[in-house]
Amino acid sequence: MKKIECFIRPEKLELVKEGLFEKGIKGMSIYEVRGHGNQRGILLSSRAGQYCVEWIDKLKMELVVSNKVDINDIINTIISKAQTGKPGDGKIFILPVEESIRIRTKERGEDIL
Ligand SMILES: Nc1ncnc2c1ncn2[C@@H]1O[C@H](COP(=O)(O)OP(=O)(O)OP(=O)(O)O)[C@@H](O)[C@H]1O
Ligand SMILES: [Mg+2]
Repeated sequence: MKKIECFIRPEKLELVKEGLFEKGIKGMSIYEVRGHGNQRGILLSSRAGQYCVEWIDKLKMELVVSNKVDINDIINTIISKAQTGKPGDGKIFILPVEESIRIRTKERGEDIL
């Protein structure tokens, strides 16, 4: 099993979610986060002049997928739905998952996903 953690633009959530549903992915969590990547924030202009916003609102989506799922297909789906080509499109991290357990039945393993 793998866990995909991705940071995306909040306005891309619906597109990414629909793309994942179409691939048969059902379980996922989302978190409202603030962060920055390589640019360490963005420069904005107002009447009072320029100011820097260091922490930018992002959405973090987490999904644990079974080894039966083609992980590159899922990654490509996320990219195709979340990409604008401009800085701040986000990042995807892939982590190994050791075990998963459904609390209701105590079942274990990737078939509970
Ligand atoms: N190394 C990291 N560790 C944890 N979270 C990160 C890391 N890099 C980026 N993030 C998260 O991803 C969000 C999006 O980052 P962002 O897309 O700006 O990355 P970037 O490397 O600057 O790429 P780009 O050049 O496209 O802007 C950040 O706001 C932050 O929440
Ligand atoms: Mg950036």
